[in-house]
Amino acid sequence: MKFDTATVVSYSPTGTTTRVLKGIVEGMKSNLSLVDVTSPKVRKTAVLPEGDVLLVGMPVYSGRIAKEGRALLEKLRGDGRPAVAVVVYGNRHYDDALLELGDILREKGFKVIAGAAFIGEHSFADEKYPTAIGRPDGYDLPVIRSFGAKVAKMLGAADSVSELPEVDLPGNRPYKVPSTMPEGSPVTDVETCVHCGKCAAVCPVGAVDPKDPNATDGVACTFCCACVKACPTGARVLRLEPVASLGKKMWDNFSSRREPEFFMPTPSKK
Ligand SMILES: Cc1cc2nc3c(=O)[nH]c(=O)nc-3n(C[C@H](O)[C@H](O)[C@H](O)COP(=O)(O)O)c2cc1C
Repeated sequence: MKFDTATVVSYSPTGTTTRVLKGIVEGMKSNLSLVDVTSPKVRKTAVLPEGDVLLVGMPVYSGRIAKEGRALLEKLRGDGRPAVAVVVYGNRHYDDALLELGDILREKGFKVIAGAAFIGEHSFADEKYPTAIGRPDGYDLPVIRSFGAKVAKMLGAADSVSELPEVDLPGNRPYKVPSTMPEGSPVTDVETCVHCGKCAAVCPVGAVDPKDPNATDGVACTFCCACVKACPTGARVLRLEPVASLGKKMWDNFSSRREPEFFMPTPSKK
């Protein structure tokens, strides 16, 4: 199958999912058409892509795909096109997220030909509790590209979509019930805040008031920590319990390095 451009849909509040997807497309040696649906404005207006092959990447929140991304996927229409499901998680586990993403893509009419779970810096990681900090890193990137190369090889070897086998993805149905998060959000230390507006600009749900970061909508906030990571002075901090202790909990229990996993169909004998 000939394909010039890999179309990528990514929801990625702290950027690791988008980095992984870009690495996959590099490995495919294909042109990249990226629809980054992290910003709420883009999600409202995004024209979802046509194209020969679609890659969709979502971060794992509580063992499921992040719900803002899930809502967006409802807009997709596959019309039998091949798709690749990618989840990025913070070194604990991805539980049912990859299966869920694959199921949604199938429901939307795609043929899911491959899947992968990669590790990204944990949203709650900091210098003290650095779970998966810096990932994807120099060890991950060649692995990420090699997944892209395998996908490209599989597509190149088929004469048409009908020849491409579908992949089985790991996970359980019914999917894991995600833990409920409390109402609230990170807060801003007024002494160190320089009013640069970065916290408001990166918030994927538009919860932060650009004029007064402390006026954050605690119902809308997903604790993605994009604002905490983007703050140039460290003024934006997560203090609300029990969320604030999750960084330590992750580090205490899930600091042993996990490695990426690929799922490709077993090639059928012609
Ligand atoms: C609310 C929330 C829940 C999360 N749940 C999980 C999880 O169940 N397993 C895991 O390993 N990482 C979990 N993470 C970490 C993210 O999956 C990880 O940091 C990912 O790289 C974030 O992707 P992004 O940089 O594209 O936003 C969670 C993060 C947040 C904010």
